[in-house]
Amino acid sequence: MTGKEANTHGAILQDTEPEDGDRPTVQLRNAGKAYGNIRALHGVDLAVRPGQVTCVLGDNGAGKSTLIKIISGLHQHTEGEFLVDGEPVHFTTPRQALDRGIATVYQDLAVVPLMPVWRNFFLGSEMTKGPWPFRRLDIEKMKKTADEELRNMGIVLDNLDQPIGTLSGGQRQCVAIARAVYFGARVLILDEPTAALGVKQSGVVLKYVAAARERGLGVIFITHNPHHAYMVGDHFSVLRLGTMELSAERSEITLEELTNHMAGGTELAALKHELSQVRGLDVDELPDARDLTAL
Ligand SMILES: Nc1ncnc2c1ncn2[C@@H]1O[C@H](COP(=O)(O)OP(=O)(O)OP(=O)(O)O)[C@@H](O)[C@H]1O
Ligand SMILES: [Mg+2]
Repeated sequence: MTGKEANTHGAILQDTEPEDGDRPTVQLRNAGKAYGNIRALHGVDLAVRPGQVTCVLGDNGAGKSTLIKIISGLHQHTEGEFLVDGEPVHFTTPRQALDRGIATVYQDLAVVPLMPVWRNFFLGSEMTKGPWPFRRLDIEKMKKTADEELRNMGIVLDNLDQPIGTLSGGQRQCVAIARAVYFGARVLILDEPTAALGVKQSGVVLKYVAAARERGLGVIFITHNPHHAYMVGDHFSVLRLGTMELSAERSEITLEELTNHMAGGTELAALKHELSQVRGLDVDELPDARDLTAL
Protein backbone atom coordinates (compact mmCIF):
# COMPACT_ATOMS: atom_id res chain seq x y z
CA MET A 1 0.00 0.00 0.00
CA THR A 2 2.56 2.51 -0.97
CA GLY A 3 0.69 5.28 -2.70
CA LYS A 4 -0.08 2.93 -5.54
CA GLU A 5 -2.20 5.50 -7.33
CA ALA A 6 0.41 8.17 -6.98
CA ASN A 7 1.74 8.13 -10.46
CA THR A 8 -1.16 6.92 -12.53
CA HIS A 9 -1.91 9.19 -15.40
CA GLY A 10 -4.79 11.64 -15.31
CA ALA A 11 -6.49 9.36 -12.84
CA ILE A 12 -9.13 10.95 -10.74
CA LEU A 13 -11.55 13.65 -11.56
CA GLN A 14 -14.37 14.08 -9.12
CA ASP A 15 -17.11 12.81 -11.38
CA THR A 16 -15.43 9.47 -12.03
CA GLU A 17 -17.06 6.99 -9.70
CA PRO A 18 -14.35 5.00 -7.97
CA GLU A 19 -14.28 1.27 -8.51
CA ASP A 20 -14.68 -1.11 -5.64
CA GLY A 21 -11.50 -1.43 -3.63
CA ASP A 22 -10.53 2.06 -4.59
CA ARG A 23 -13.30 3.69 -2.65
CA PRO A 24 -12.21 6.83 -0.82
CA THR A 25 -12.24 6.53 2.96
CA VAL A 26 -13.38 10.13 3.19
CA GLN A 27 -15.09 12.04 0.44
CA LEU A 28 -16.70 15.44 0.08
CA ARG A 29 -19.06 16.00 -2.81
CA ASN A 30 -20.08 19.51 -3.67
CA ALA A 31 -19.79 20.27 0.03
CA GLY A 32 -20.10 23.67 1.60
CA LYS A 33 -20.45 25.47 4.88
CA ALA A 34 -22.09 28.74 5.79
CA TYR A 35 -21.60 30.48 9.12
CA GLY A 36 -24.83 32.48 9.29
CA ASN A 37 -24.71 34.38 6.04
CA ILE A 38 -20.96 34.04 5.58
CA ARG A 39 -20.25 31.35 3.02
CA ALA A 40 -16.90 29.97 4.13
CA LEU A 41 -16.85 26.99 1.78
CA HIS A 42 -18.76 26.16 -1.36
CA GLY A 43 -18.90 23.36 -3.94
CA VAL A 44 -15.89 21.45 -2.63
CA ASP A 45 -14.97 17.96 -3.89
CA LEU A 46 -12.27 15.99 -2.12
CA ALA A 47 -11.35 12.31 -1.92
CA VAL A 48 -8.98 10.72 0.57
CA ARG A 49 -7.71 7.24 -0.22
CA PRO A 50 -5.66 4.79 1.85
CA GLY A 51 -1.94 5.16 1.26
CA GLN A 52 -2.24 8.59 -0.32
CA VAL A 53 -1.45 12.12 0.78
CA THR A 54 -4.03 14.70 -0.24
CA CYS A 55 -2.67 18.23 0.14
CA VAL A 56 -5.03 21.12 0.72
CA LEU A 57 -3.44 24.46 -0.02
CA GLY A 58 -4.78 27.97 0.17
CA ASP A 59 -4.14 31.45 1.42
CA ASN A 60 -5.38 32.91 4.70
CA GLY A 61 -9.16 32.76 4.91
CA ALA A 62 -9.40 30.36 1.95
CA GLY A 63 -11.43 27.87 3.99
CA LYS A 64 -8.79 25.25 4.91
CA SER A 65 -9.65 25.14 8.61
CA THR A 66 -13.37 25.08 7.83
CA LEU A 67 -12.79 22.08 5.57
CA ILE A 68 -10.94 20.09 8.21
CA LYS A 69 -13.39 21.09 10.93
CA ILE A 70 -16.14 19.44 8.89
CA ILE A 71 -14.14 16.25 8.40
CA SER A 72 -12.99 16.11 12.02
CA GLY A 73 -16.50 16.55 13.41
CA LEU A 74 -16.13 20.02 14.91
CA HIS A 75 -18.54 21.68 12.46
CA GLN A 76 -21.25 20.34 10.19
CA HIS A 77 -21.46 20.98 6.47
CA THR A 78 -24.51 22.90 5.32
CA GLU A 79 -24.36 21.92 1.63
CA GLY A 80 -23.53 18.82 -0.37
CA GLU A 81 -22.38 15.47 0.94
CA PHE A 82 -19.75 14.13 3.33
CA LEU A 83 -19.16 10.39 3.02
CA VAL A 84 -17.09 7.99 5.10
CA ASP A 85 -16.54 4.58 3.47
CA GLY A 86 -19.18 5.57 0.95
CA GLU A 87 -21.82 6.28 3.59
CA PRO A 88 -23.20 9.81 4.13
CA VAL A 89 -22.41 11.12 7.62
CA HIS A 90 -23.14 14.17 9.75
CA PHE A 91 -20.77 14.12 12.69
CA THR A 92 -21.84 16.21 15.64
CA THR A 93 -18.73 15.65 17.78
CA PRO A 94 -15.03 14.98 17.11
CA ARG A 95 -15.48 11.69 19.03
CA GLN A 96 -17.70 10.39 16.22
CA ALA A 97 -15.02 11.18 13.64
CA LEU A 98 -12.39 9.48 15.82
CA ASP A 99 -14.58 6.39 16.15
CA ARG A 100 -14.52 6.15 12.35
CA GLY A 101 -10.73 6.39 12.39
CA ILE A 102 -10.39 10.08 11.50
CA ALA A 103 -7.71 11.66 13.69
CA THR A 104 -6.66 15.30 13.61
CA VAL A 105 -3.31 16.67 14.71
CA TYR A 106 -3.78 20.37 15.39
CA GLN A 107 -0.97 22.83 15.20
CA ASP A 108 -1.34 23.84 18.83
CA LEU A 109 -1.02 20.27 20.02
CA ALA A 110 -2.98 19.22 23.07
CA VAL A 111 0.01 18.07 25.13
CA VAL A 112 0.96 18.59 28.75
CA PRO A 113 4.48 20.04 28.43
CA LEU A 114 5.74 18.92 31.84
CA MET A 115 4.60 15.32 31.49
CA PRO A 116 6.94 12.73 30.08
CA VAL A 117 6.75 11.77 26.41
CA TRP A 118 5.23 8.35 27.16
CA ARG A 119 2.52 9.87 29.38
CA ASN A 120 1.54 12.25 26.60
CA PHE A 121 1.50 9.38 24.13
CA PHE A 122 -1.22 7.69 26.21
CA LEU A 123 -2.96 10.83 27.47
CA GLY A 124 -6.64 10.07 27.92
CA SER A 125 -6.22 6.38 26.99
CA GLU A 126 -3.88 5.14 29.71
CA MET A 127 -3.07 1.45 30.06
CA THR A 128 -3.94 0.01 33.44
CA LYS A 129 -3.36 -3.25 35.23
CA GLY A 130 -4.79 -5.13 38.18
CA PRO A 131 -8.40 -5.86 39.05
CA TRP A 132 -10.80 -3.17 40.19
CA PRO A 133 -10.58 -1.47 42.74
CA PHE A 134 -6.82 -1.92 42.70
CA ARG A 135 -6.38 -0.75 39.14
CA ARG A 136 -3.29 1.31 38.55
CA LEU A 137 -1.35 2.67 35.62
CA ASP A 138 0.75 0.10 33.82
CA ILE A 139 3.75 2.36 33.51
CA GLU A 140 6.21 -0.25 32.25
CA LYS A 141 3.88 -1.38 29.49
CA MET A 142 3.09 2.17 28.42
CA LYS A 143 6.78 3.10 28.23
CA LYS A 144 7.60 -0.02 26.26
CA THR A 145 4.69 0.40 23.85
CA ALA A 146 5.38 4.10 23.28
CA ASP A 147 9.02 3.29 22.59
CA GLU A 148 8.12 0.51 20.13
CA GLU A 149 5.53 2.59 18.33
CA LEU A 150 7.83 5.58 17.98
CA ARG A 151 10.57 3.32 16.67
CA ASN A 152 8.15 1.74 14.19
CA MET A 153 7.65 5.19 12.75
CA GLY A 154 11.41 5.70 12.70
CA ILE A 155 11.39 8.11 15.65
CA VAL A 156 14.19 7.42 18.10
CA LEU A 157 14.20 9.44 21.30
CA ASP A 158 16.94 8.93 23.88
CA ASN A 159 14.70 9.19 26.86
CA LEU A 160 10.93 8.81 26.95
CA ASP A 161 10.93 10.12 30.53
CA GLN A 162 11.87 13.59 29.40
CA PRO A 163 9.02 16.13 29.52
CA ILE A 164 7.43 16.50 26.08
CA GLY A 165 7.93 20.26 26.46
CA THR A 166 11.66 19.71 25.98
CA LEU A 167 11.16 18.27 22.48
CA SER A 168 11.32 20.47 19.43
CA GLY A 169 8.08 21.46 17.70
CA GLY A 170 8.88 19.03 14.90
CA GLN A 171 9.48 16.12 17.28
CA ARG A 172 6.22 16.84 19.07
CA GLN A 173 4.35 16.72 15.77
CA CYS A 174 6.01 13.38 15.06
CA VAL A 175 4.96 11.95 18.44
CA ALA A 176 1.40 13.09 17.71
CA ILE A 177 1.48 11.37 14.31
CA ALA A 178 2.82 8.12 15.83
CA ARG A 179 0.14 8.31 18.52
CA ALA A 180 -2.67 8.67 15.96
CA VAL A 181 -1.28 5.71 14.01
CA TYR A 182 -1.09 3.58 17.18
CA PHE A 183 -4.66 4.39 18.20
CA GLY A 184 -5.94 3.10 14.88
CA ALA A 185 -6.33 6.19 12.71
CA ARG A 186 -7.16 5.42 9.08
CA VAL A 187 -7.28 9.05 8.06
CA LEU A 188 -4.84 11.53 9.51
CA ILE A 189 -5.51 15.25 9.22
CA LEU A 190 -2.52 17.53 9.75
CA ASP A 191 -3.32 21.22 10.09
CA GLU A 192 -0.28 23.16 8.91
CA PRO A 193 2.20 20.93 10.75
CA THR A 194 5.20 22.69 9.23
CA ALA A 195 3.98 26.29 9.49
CA ALA A 196 6.00 27.23 12.57
CA LEU A 197 9.03 25.06 11.80
CA GLY A 198 12.41 25.73 10.28
CA VAL A 199 13.72 23.90 7.23
CA LYS A 200 15.28 20.97 9.04
CA GLN A 201 12.38 20.29 11.38
CA SER A 202 9.91 20.61 8.51
CA GLY A 203 11.90 17.93 6.72
CA VAL A 204 11.56 15.63 9.72
CA VAL A 205 7.79 16.11 9.87
CA LEU A 206 7.46 15.51 6.13
CA LYS A 207 9.35 12.27 6.59
CA TYR A 208 6.73 11.06 9.06
CA VAL A 209 3.90 12.19 6.81
CA ALA A 210 5.45 9.85 4.24
CA ALA A 211 5.81 7.14 6.92
CA ALA A 212 2.09 7.40 7.77
CA ARG A 213 1.28 7.00 4.10
CA GLU A 214 3.54 3.93 3.87
CA ARG A 215 1.54 2.44 6.72
CA GLY A 216 -1.56 2.75 4.56
CA LEU A 217 -3.18 5.79 6.13
CA GLY A 218 -4.93 8.39 4.07
CA VAL A 219 -3.38 11.75 4.97
CA ILE A 220 -4.90 15.20 4.56
CA PHE A 221 -2.02 17.65 4.70
CA ILE A 222 -3.01 21.30 5.10
CA THR A 223 -0.32 23.78 4.20
CA HIS A 224 0.50 27.20 2.79
CA ASN A 225 3.71 25.88 1.35
CA PRO A 226 3.64 24.35 -2.15
CA HIS A 227 7.21 23.07 -1.76
CA HIS A 228 6.29 21.05 1.32
CA ALA A 229 3.12 19.82 -0.35
CA TYR A 230 4.96 18.71 -3.46
CA MET A 231 7.52 16.73 -1.48
CA VAL A 232 4.92 14.31 -0.15
CA GLY A 233 1.65 14.88 -2.01
CA ASP A 234 -0.21 12.51 -4.33
CA HIS A 235 -3.08 14.91 -4.93
CA PHE A 236 -3.29 18.70 -4.67
CA SER A 237 -6.36 20.80 -3.98
CA VAL A 238 -6.08 24.56 -3.88
CA LEU A 239 -8.78 26.56 -2.13
CA ARG A 240 -9.40 30.19 -2.89
CA LEU A 241 -12.09 32.26 -1.20
CA GLY A 242 -13.95 29.13 -0.16
CA THR A 243 -14.06 27.33 -3.48
CA MET A 244 -11.76 24.74 -4.94
CA GLU A 245 -9.73 26.47 -7.56
CA LEU A 246 -7.59 23.52 -8.51
CA SER A 247 -7.74 19.77 -8.00
CA ALA A 248 -4.93 17.83 -9.63
CA GLU A 249 -3.13 14.54 -9.40
CA ARG A 250 0.62 14.67 -8.99
CA SER A 251 1.08 13.53 -12.58
CA GLU A 252 -1.00 16.45 -13.81
CA ILE A 253 0.89 19.32 -12.25
CA THR A 254 4.46 20.50 -11.77
CA LEU A 255 5.81 22.22 -8.65
CA GLU A 256 6.13 25.41 -10.64
CA GLU A 257 2.48 25.35 -11.69
CA LEU A 258 1.39 24.60 -8.14
CA THR A 259 3.47 27.47 -6.80
CA ASN A 260 2.00 29.78 -9.38
CA HIS A 261 -1.52 28.81 -8.36
CA MET A 262 -0.68 29.49 -4.76
CA ALA A 263 1.15 32.73 -5.32
CA GLY A 264 -1.54 33.93 -7.70
CA GLY A 265 0.46 35.39 -10.59
CA THR A 266 -2.10 38.16 -11.22
CA GLU A 267 -2.19 39.14 -7.55
CA LEU A 268 1.57 39.51 -7.52
CA ALA A 269 1.38 41.76 -10.57
CA ALA A 270 -1.23 43.91 -8.77
CA LEU A 271 0.97 44.06 -5.68
CA LYS A 272 3.89 45.17 -7.79
CA HIS A 273 1.74 47.92 -9.26
CA GLU A 274 0.71 49.06 -5.77
CA LEU A 275 4.32 49.12 -4.66
CA SER A 276 5.13 51.32 -7.61
CA GLN A 277 3.09 54.03 -5.84
CA VAL A 278 5.52 53.88 -2.95
CA ARG A 279 8.02 56.67 -3.32
CA GLY A 280 11.57 55.75 -4.02
CA LEU A 281 10.90 52.17 -5.03
CA ASP A 282 12.01 51.20 -8.48
CA VAL A 283 9.50 48.57 -9.60
CA ASP A 284 11.60 47.53 -12.53
CA GLU A 285 14.13 46.32 -10.02
CA LEU A 286 11.57 43.99 -8.43
CA PRO A 287 11.40 40.42 -9.64
CA ASP A 288 8.27 39.56 -11.61
CA ALA A 289 5.81 36.82 -10.69
CA ARG A 290 7.67 34.20 -12.68
CA ASP A 291 10.91 34.79 -10.80
CA LEU A 292 9.10 34.76 -7.47
CA THR A 293 7.74 31.29 -8.09
CA ALA A 294 11.29 30.05 -8.09
CA LEU A 295 11.87 31.24 -4.53
N1 LIG B 1 -16.78 30.43 13.21
C1 LIG B 1 -16.83 31.26 12.17
N2 LIG B 1 -17.82 32.19 12.07
C2 LIG B 1 -17.89 33.02 11.02
N3 LIG B 1 -17.02 33.03 9.99
C3 LIG B 1 -16.02 32.15 10.03
C4 LIG B 1 -15.86 31.22 11.12
N4 LIG B 1 -14.77 30.46 10.88
C5 LIG B 1 -14.27 30.90 9.71
N5 LIG B 1 -15.02 31.90 9.20
C6 LIG B 1 -14.78 32.59 7.93
O1 LIG B 1 -14.68 31.63 6.91
C7 LIG B 1 -13.65 31.95 5.98
C8 LIG B 1 -12.66 30.79 5.89
O2 LIG B 1 -11.94 30.68 7.13
P1 LIG B 1 -10.93 29.51 7.48
O3 LIG B 1 -10.55 29.68 8.91
O4 LIG B 1 -11.55 28.22 7.10
O5 LIG B 1 -9.71 29.84 6.53
P2 LIG B 1 -8.22 29.23 6.49
O6 LIG B 1 -7.98 28.84 5.07
O7 LIG B 1 -8.08 28.19 7.53
O8 LIG B 1 -7.31 30.48 6.85
P3 LIG B 1 -5.90 30.56 7.65
O9 LIG B 1 -4.83 30.19 6.69
O10 LIG B 1 -5.82 31.99 8.03
O11 LIG B 1 -5.98 29.64 8.83
C9 LIG B 1 -13.03 33.24 6.47
O12 LIG B 1 -13.61 34.30 5.73
C10 LIG B 1 -13.43 33.32 7.92
O13 LIG B 1 -13.57 34.64 8.35
MG1 LIG C 1 -6.82 27.96 9.24
